[in-house]
Amino acid sequence: MTDKPAQRTAPELFTWEFATDPYPAYAWLREHSPVHRTTLPSGVEAWLVTRYADAKQALADQRLSKNPAHHDEPAHAKGKTGIPGERKAELMTHLLNIDPPDHTRLRRLVSKAFTPRRVAEFAPRVQELTDQLIDGFAAEGEADLIHDFAFPLPIYAICDLLGVPREDQDDFRDWAGMMIRHGGGPRGGVARSVKKMRGYLAELIHRKRNDPGDDLISGLIRASDHGEHLTENEAAAMAFILLFAGFETTVNLIGNGTYALLTHPEQRERLQRSLAPGADEPGLLETGIEELLRYDGPVELATWRFATEPLTVGGQDIAAGDPVLVVLAAADRDPARFDEPDTLDLSRRDNQHLGYGHGIHYCLGAPLARLEGQTALATLLTRLPDLRLAGDPADLRWRGGLIMRGLRTLPVEFTPHREGSDEAS
Ligand code: HEM
Repeated sequence: MTDKPAQRTAPELFTWEFATDPYPAYAWLREHSPVHRTTLPSGVEAWLVTRYADAKQALADQRLSKNPAHHDEPAHAKGKTGIPGERKAELMTHLLNIDPPDHTRLRRLVSKAFTPRRVAEFAPRVQELTDQLIDGFAAEGEADLIHDFAFPLPIYAICDLLGVPREDQDDFRDWAGMMIRHGGGPRGGVARSVKKMRGYLAELIHRKRNDPGDDLISGLIRASDHGEHLTENEAAAMAFILLFAGFETTVNLIGNGTYALLTHPEQRERLQRSLAPGADEPGLLETGIEELLRYDGPVELATWRFATEPLTVGGQDIAAGDPVLVVLAAADRDPARFDEPDTLDLSRRDNQHLGYGHGIHYCLGAPLARLEGQTALATLLTRLPDLRLAGDPADLRWRGGLIMRGLRTLPVEFTPHREGSDEAS
């Protein structure tokens, strides 16, 4: 490999090979064209920011607006942003599409309802859901971990947290399934699913206003800041973004994380040992999840940003109106920031990765994502201790979307549980 001549021109981006392993291309960009102008598959021209220091600066730079109105040719119109749906839909006016002062006001209100305490109290339910899903396939000796586990866990979890009644949650599973397939799925079906979800949430919010409970939607309706409340539309948009931002991301954390562990047997064994009672590396699950986020995180590119005025990022001039995409996956493998960035080290301490973003749009759901990721991986490895990939990793396919990075399927094998037993023998 070392005698291969250095590549002089920019590697081809957004191909299938790139989707399978984008990291060599990102290494090239970091070194040779750290703020790189590219034409996206949709035809939109955008800047890719790949170095850690530039990425961090760009994520916090308020001259880079989240409001797509700053772009002359609104990319949002055709579902190019990774968030499907019509541009003018009220549901699109949410935290990731707005700037201060509206962002500050909405974020403060939602933070009052979506508190770390609420998430911590939810831990037993996440454990219960995790166990139920594993029960569903444990006797089979094989499963598709995306379809059977990583996909349903976050959707049921967020539905429960929001207060969607259990009997309606399978509808959400279907709608979310349609949305996650939007890369290759039928366009009309996605729009219909978004519309159904929107209609359902609007009606649920209306119901909860008259008959509040102890759930997050009731909390969103109740939340007030200096006498201000969310309107019904804002509450619906907020519920939608919590669902949307918290769903595919967590699917990919579980999927990419399990895949990384199964392809790094030493790290996986180390983590498995640390989960046993009296283990010698007790904090490894916590640092390990952060490392899995850094190493192959669910959000490959941060969401769209648009220059509101001419500015410079990493020495590159950017014109007003230009779209800027911060490549979190490239920044988190930057050797200028991380020692041996291409090595998976679950005990990595100096690990301020950008997997949850940075600045005012830093992930609001990080405590829930951590809870779900830690519970899912620890339970899988404890209950199915000989879990292994079924088939050749080279046959695995990654979803081709722009923003998210995740596997389409993750076939695994393990010793089947006998009915009624808790531990695989
Ligand atoms: C491993 C799972 C997750 C990852 C890797 C992740 C990552 C991110 C990232 C990178 C951003 C910033 C995007 C940007 O600045 O362009 C973000 C924002 C956000 N995330 Fe997450 N997320 C995860 C899970 C969740 C969950 C479970 C929820 C909620 C249920 C959630 C809710 C949000 C919201 C509401 C925002 C927008 C915050 C704002 O604009 O102020 N996320 N997330």
